[in-house]
Amino acid sequence: MRGFQHAKLFSDVDRTNDPSFFIYFMDEADKPKGIAESKAIALARMGLGEGQSVLDLGCGPGADALEMASIVGDTGRVVGIDASEVMVAEARRRAGDTANISFQVAQAGALPFADDSFDACRASRLLEHLADPRPALREIARVTRSGGSVAVLDLDWDTLIIDHPDKETTRTIVRSHSDSMRNGCVGRQLPRLLKEQHLDNVSIDATQIFVHWAMVEIFLGTHLSTLIKNETVSAEQATQWWEALQRANDEGTLLVSFTSFVVAGHKGAA
Ligand SMILES: C[S@@+](CC[C@H](N)C(=O)[O-])C[C@H]1O[C@@H](n2cnc3c(N)ncnc32)[C@H](O)[C@@H]1O
Repeated sequence: MRGFQHAKLFSDVDRTNDPSFFIYFMDEADKPKGIAESKAIALARMGLGEGQSVLDLGCGPGADALEMASIVGDTGRVVGIDASEVMVAEARRRAGDTANISFQVAQAGALPFADDSFDACRASRLLEHLADPRPALREIARVTRSGGSVAVLDLDWDTLIIDHPDKETTRTIVRSHSDSMRNGCVGRQLPRLLKEQHLDNVSIDATQIFVHWAMVEIFLGTHLSTLIKNETVSAEQATQWWEALQRANDEGTLLVSFTSFVVAGHKGAA
């Protein structure tokens, strides 16, 4: 079986020892209850229509870009950018011959597009992987046309709730997991960060996400291994904690949940 890798490595997927693992990661990361709802809110807030041009930053394997391409239709266009060549190759493969979509490798903080190029821009689960989200948000504001819409979806890992009998170990795991991300608390910062970019009519929506077992294994199992290695928890403590969580899953009482934020707005007139 392939080894799991830590989510913080999303900032440089191509330099990991198994970049394709992150495609599997993203496919599982779309499954938790609440994610589709949160993404639908982002789409609704953007108010996309036929003929519009849309930029998706940190597009990953491209599922959301494809959905937006079907909304803007043949007269519109969707561009997905991602820092990872592996992600862009997979997004192109999945898009096949869809005519109104293209993908390219680019850094969110240095977009290869002119000012005011897009009717709408969105970034989903990207900013949690950037040590400083401001360059990416400045670029979003720059390439969106006046009056165009912006939607940012991101998570807040300090909101992680785990129903577990060992409260103290759970607190250690939750806090260290959030701190292990480049920007684990970015969800709650989004309203402030978007207002800094002078967006108008900023809306805030929060959705509770409920994580299924395969995803728990991917992100908590991997983090627990790190905690054992750096001696934050003992191997015995970690094993007992993990076994209790597995029992909860077997008994149908697993509750692992966190908050996803969607913050959206419009670029003000210049
Ligand atoms: C967690 S995935 C999100 C994928 C998709 N947007 C979604 O929500 O399903 C984060 C993506 O951001 C990309 N990424 C990370 N740092 C980036 C950067 N500086 N510029 C552009 N993309 C970046 C990663 O390669 C990865 O594909």
